[in-house]
Amino acid sequence: MSREMILVLDFGGQYNQLIARRVRELSVYSEVHPHTMSIEEIKKMNPTGIILTGGPASVYKDDSPKCDKKLFELGIPVLGICYGAQLMTYLLGGKVETADVREYGHTEISTDGTDLLFTGVSKKTVVWMSHTDRITEVAQGFRVTASSSSCPIAAASDWTRKLFLTQFHPEVTHSKEGQAMLANFVRNVCNCRCDWKMSSFVDESIVTLKRKVGSGRVLCALSGGVDSSVAAVLLSKAIGKQLTCVFVDHGLLRKDEGDDVEAVFGPRGPYELNFIRVNAQKRFYDKLKGVEEPEQKRKIIGEEFIRVFEEEARKIGAVDFLVQGTIYPDVIESGLGKSAVIKSHHNVGGLPDCVDFKEIIEPLRLLFKDEVRRAGLELGIPEKLVYRQPFPGPGLAIRIIGEVTPEKVHIVQEADAIFRDEMAKAGFDKLANQYFAALSNMRSVGCMGDERTYDYAVVIRAVTTTDFMTAEAAQLPWTLLGTVTNRIVNEVKGVNRVLYDCTGKPPATIELE
Ligand code: XMP
Repeated sequence: MSREMILVLDFGGQYNQLIARRVRELSVYSEVHPHTMSIEEIKKMNPTGIILTGGPASVYKDDSPKCDKKLFELGIPVLGICYGAQLMTYLLGGKVETADVREYGHTEISTDGTDLLFTGVSKKTVVWMSHTDRITEVAQGFRVTASSSSCPIAAASDWTRKLFLTQFHPEVTHSKEGQAMLANFVRNVCNCRCDWKMSSFVDESIVTLKRKVGSGRVLCALSGGVDSSVAAVLLSKAIGKQLTCVFVDHGLLRKDEGDDVEAVFGPRGPYELNFIRVNAQKRFYDKLKGVEEPEQKRKIIGEEFIRVFEEEARKIGAVDFLVQGTIYPDVIESGLGKSAVIKSHHNVGGLPDCVDFKEIIEPLRLLFKDEVRRAGLELGIPEKLVYRQPFPGPGLAIRIIGEVTPEKVHIVQEADAIFRDEMAKAGFDKLANQYFAALSNMRSVGCMGDERTYDYAVVIRAVTTTDFMTAEAAQLPWTLLGTVTNRIVNEVKGVNRVLYDCTGKPPATIELE
C-alpha cells in the first residue's frame, strides 16, 4: 500500500506548519517544504495532495515567491490558501488585484453547498480572512464556490484538474468549519485512507535516522526536558550505542531531578546509549558568585554550559552528527528575529560552534509540543517525563532573585518539592500549566517558637496559559495555599514567610527573572 502524504509548499505564511499539523490531525502524514522545491523533487516525493500556503507577497511582483506552473498538471490535487490561491489563479490565467482595504478578521461566507470542499459544511459559515490582494477573476475551468460581501471570490474549484482554492484560512480555528473543509480536501478530493498514526512517525523516523547515520557517531545534549529526551530515545532506538548523551548537571535543577534523568537514561535505564553525567555544580556556583543582574546570570549560565559541553565533546572526539531537540515552536521563535529581547533564552542545544561535527539532526523539527509528547509515549518514555512542566535552561537561577548561592538553591528545591507534592495531592497539577516555588531576595522578621527570626520569603507561583506568551495567575484554593505555606515554613530551614504571586503575564513574566 502506498504511503499517503500531503505536501505543504511554504510561501512564507505564518500558518504554514499549522496546516501540516491540521492534516496530521486528520491522520494523514504531512510535511512543509520550501516553495522552491523542483517539480522533479515533488514527483519523487509522490504526494497524495499538495497545499500551497499563504504568504505576505503580491503575486504580480517579480520577486514574489512562485512555483512551477507544471505543478497543476501533475494530476495531484492542489489546494491553494490565500497567497497560494492567488498564485494558482495568476499562474493559470485568472486575475489578482490589490484591494483598497486589507480584509482582516472574521467574515461570513456563503458556500454553494455542492462543492467537494464544502460537503457537510453550513451554507453560511464564519471564516478567517487576512489579505490585501484578492482574486477578481478566476482562471479558466474554475467555478466560484463561496463568496462574502467584501470578497466575491472566497473559494473556487476546478474538479476536472482537482484544483481548489480558498481566499480565507481554513487552518486556523477562527474558521469555524475550517477543519471540516481540510478534511473534505484530504478525504473527498485526495481520497486519503487517513490511517497515519504517531506510531508511524516514530517507526519511519527510526528507519530514516538509521539510514542517515549509517555507522556514524552521534552526540546529544540531554537536558531531561521532553524535547531532548524524545529526540534521544528516538536516536537510541535507531542507532543504540553509536549515540552518546551528555547531561550537564549545573546544580540548578529541581530536587532529585539529576538523579531522575540518570535513572531513565543512565546505565540502569532501559535504553541502549552512552550516558555521561557531568556534575558541574561547583563550577556554576563559582561563576555566579556575587552576580545579581538577571541577564548577566543567564549569560553566565549559557556560556558556562557551552564550556562544559565543549570539554566533554573534546574528550569524545569528532562526531558525525549533533542531535538537537528543536521543535516547531522553537523554529518560529528563532525566526522572528525582530521582536524585543525580554529575556535571552537559553536552551540546551544551541551549541553547534563548539563541537566537531558534520551535520545537525533535528528529528522533531516538524512537531508541535503535544505531538512530541505523543511520540514520547509511543516510545515508552515514562509519563512523568513526557508530561514534565516546562523548565527553563538556566534552571533555578532565574527563580532566585539576586545572587545565587548553594543555600538559596537548596531552599528553592525543598520549597518547590513541597509545593509540587501538594499540587499533585489536590489534583491541581493538571489544571495549572506551570507552577513552582521561587525565592524573593527579601528577608523579613518573624517569630518561631518564641524566637525572633530574620529569614527569606518564598514566592509560590502557578499560572494557566495555552501558549506561555500570556498567562493568568491560577486561582488556587485558600486551603491548598495554607497547607503549602505551613509545610514550607515548618519544613524548610531559612524561610519564615510564603507569598503567592497573583500577577498575570503581562505585566509580569512567568519566571521571576
Ligand atoms: P517567561 O518567564 O518569559 O517564560 O514568561 C515563558 C516560558 O518560557 C520558559 N523560559 C525558558 N525556557 N530557556 C527555556 O528553555 C529559558 O531561558 C527560559 N526562560 C523562560 C518559562 O519557564 C515559561 O514556560
